[in-house]
Amino acid sequence: MKKLLFLLLFVLPVIGFTQKFDLAKTPPMGWNSWNTFACDINEELIRNTADAMVSTGMKDAGYIYINIDDCWHGERDNQGFIHEDAKRFPSGMKALADYVHSKGLKIGIYSDAGTQTCGGRPGSRGHEYQDAITYAGWGIDYLKYDWCSTGELNAAEAYITMRDAIFVAGRPVVFSICEWGENKPWTWAKDVGHLWRTTGDIHNCWDCVMGYGTWSKLGVLAILDKQADLRKYAGPGHWNDPDMLEVGNGMSYTEDRAHFSLWCMLAAPLISGNDIRNMTKETLEILTNKEAIAINQDELGVQCFKMYDKGDFEVYAKPLSNNELALCFLNRGETPFTFSFDWKNYPVYDGVSGKNYDFAKTEYRLRDCWLKQDAGTTAVPLKATLQPHDVILMRLTPKK
Ligand code: GLA
Repeated sequence: MKKLLFLLLFVLPVIGFTQKFDLAKTPPMGWNSWNTFACDINEELIRNTADAMVSTGMKDAGYIYINIDDCWHGERDNQGFIHEDAKRFPSGMKALADYVHSKGLKIGIYSDAGTQTCGGRPGSRGHEYQDAITYAGWGIDYLKYDWCSTGELNAAEAYITMRDAIFVAGRPVVFSICEWGENKPWTWAKDVGHLWRTTGDIHNCWDCVMGYGTWSKLGVLAILDKQADLRKYAGPGHWNDPDMLEVGNGMSYTEDRAHFSLWCMLAAPLISGNDIRNMTKETLEILTNKEAIAINQDELGVQCFKMYDKGDFEVYAKPLSNNELALCFLNRGETPFTFSFDWKNYPVYDGVSGKNYDFAKTEYRLRDCWLKQDAGTTAVPLKATLQPHDVILMRLTPKK
């Protein structure tokens, strides 16, 4: 008995912790049903999305997780075990997971720390260990865990309970904390989850805040601005999550491209939220830009910071491994912005990563990640015009 207790209390969580670190060394990449389909989901959609992930080349670009969000649930049986909605998922979750796995992909699911999910389905409160065991039996690889109907629950404790349940269930699972930043998860979640939402839900607009009484949805810029002080909390295995992507969901081409670039710079999880069975060439081109993705997935795992701010013109810097650096020049405003950026006047010093880049001392080669072409060096000022809501995304490599 003592041995069993020792195993449960000490050994399994430690094994689980080791697995935790290895699962998300770089920000997770995948797809999630919520932004486009909300509760209108079924197994055919998930299967076809898995097919599209492969046939479009998104899988090759790094998108691995097919995540089912809210509303997959049926009811709990009389022993308390949760079942899928048999009308929408007639073949069952296990068969669906097997199908997704047969494509070389991984599958995610959604639950909630409270009594009900945000969509009014059964939450995991009081059933955490049962649910974790059920998910492991189905072959689930990723759990997004929401925060509706939680009353007076303590957030850190509630998420730790589910983390431990996942560890004991024994299947490696990426654990996505979704309490909208309300309890400052960046201060306690490093060893609890692999990613934590930092804000309320995203909305597919450039610069808006949509109020819904007690909660609001935020556009790209509003979310971007809320990440500023959080970068020191993120790193390999534990990421700030500024919410899923809205690329392909109604913003303009330049806005989508800027949104994607900024999420890459933020070392954000890249979870596409569009209908990938049915997307334009432009949307696919944005989502699969390998040069932008390489910035996001850089193994140093450092989130960007704003190194320059002049009205609507901002420059973000993201230190990369091998003494490389990513820069993103952003025009937030409504009119074109012409600039000349004289590198030697803007050395980059980063207290978080300890990386320094002095362009007066070292010359860097420039690579434009959207034009996908070399763009000279830092020896001469960068002169360019940025269209409204557009970016220039650059990779800088020291010249040998
Ligand atoms: C919350 C989350 C969303 C989504 C919905 C589902 O609003 O923040 O991302 O999961 O719940 O109901």
